[in-house]
Amino acid sequence: MKLKILEIEYHPSIMDKAKSLLSGIGNIKQTQKYYDSWSNHYDFTLDKWKYTAPKKSIIILKKKLKNYPHRILDLACGTGLFGVELKKIYRNSQIYGSDISKKSLKIAKEKNIYKKLININFEKTFNYETKFELISMIGAMTYCKSFDKIFSNTKNYLKKKGHFIFSHRTDLWDKQNFDEVLRSLKLDFKINYISRPCNYLPLNNDFKNKIKIRLVLLEKY
Ligand SMILES: C[S@@+](CC[C@H](N)C(=O)[O-])C[C@H]1O[C@@H](n2cnc3c(N)ncnc32)[C@H](O)[C@@H]1O
Repeated sequence: MKLKILEIEYHPSIMDKAKSLLSGIGNIKQTQKYYDSWSNHYDFTLDKWKYTAPKKSIIILKKKLKNYPHRILDLACGTGLFGVELKKIYRNSQIYGSDISKKSLKIAKEKNIYKKLININFEKTFNYETKFELISMIGAMTYCKSFDKIFSNTKNYLKKKGHFIFSHRTDLWDKQNFDEVLRSLKLDFKINYISRPCNYLPLNNDFKNKIKIRLVLLEKY
C-alpha cells in the first residue's frame, strides 16, 4: 500500500499536471482531456497539495447566506470535492452538478451527493428544470474564456436574491483586471464579499506562496 502511494506521488504525469495548471491547459477539448486523464488521481493529488478552497468557501456561505439554499448548482463540479462539503451543511438541498469532464462526473456520481450531473461546458446555456438559490464555481474561473457568458448564464439560472460563489486566481485577477469585470456586473449583481488572497495549493511548489485565490460571493438583484 505504502509503495503504491509513493508510486502515485512521484508519477511524472502528476508533476506535469502542476506545470500546465500554472501556465494554462489550452482549448476546451484539451481541458476536457486533461481532466479526464487526471480524474482517477485528482482527489488524491489535491489532498496532497492541501487544496482547501472548498472548505473555505463553505465558511463564507455559513456566515453570509441568511436563507437555506434548497436548490444548488455546482458548476465545474469535477469529481465532487465541493459537492461533498456542500452536502455536509445543506443535507436537504438538491445539488445539481455540471462539468466538461465525463470521467470526473463518473467519480462525482459515485459519491451520491448530486441529484443530477450534466456533461456541459459552463459557457453554453442549459435548460435546467429549476432555478437555483445558490451557484458555485470553485477552482474553475481560470478556464473561463468569456466572462460575459458565465455571468449571464449564472444570472439566468439564479433566483432573485440568489448567490454565486466562486474562486479566482490572484495572478489572473490582476492580469484580467478582474476588479473592472466585477464592477461591470453592477446592474445584475451586488458584491456581497471578496476575500483577501488566500492559499490555493500551498503544498504545490509552483503555486505555494506565489499564486493565491480570492473567494467572491455575489448576490443577484
Ligand atoms: C480545478 S478543477 C475544480 C473541480 C471542483 N470544483 C473542485 O473544487 O475540486 C476544474 C474543473 O473545471 C472543469 N472545467 C474546465 N473548463 C470547463 C468548462 N468550460 N465547462 C465546464 N467545466 C469546465 C474541469 O473539467 C475540472 O473538473
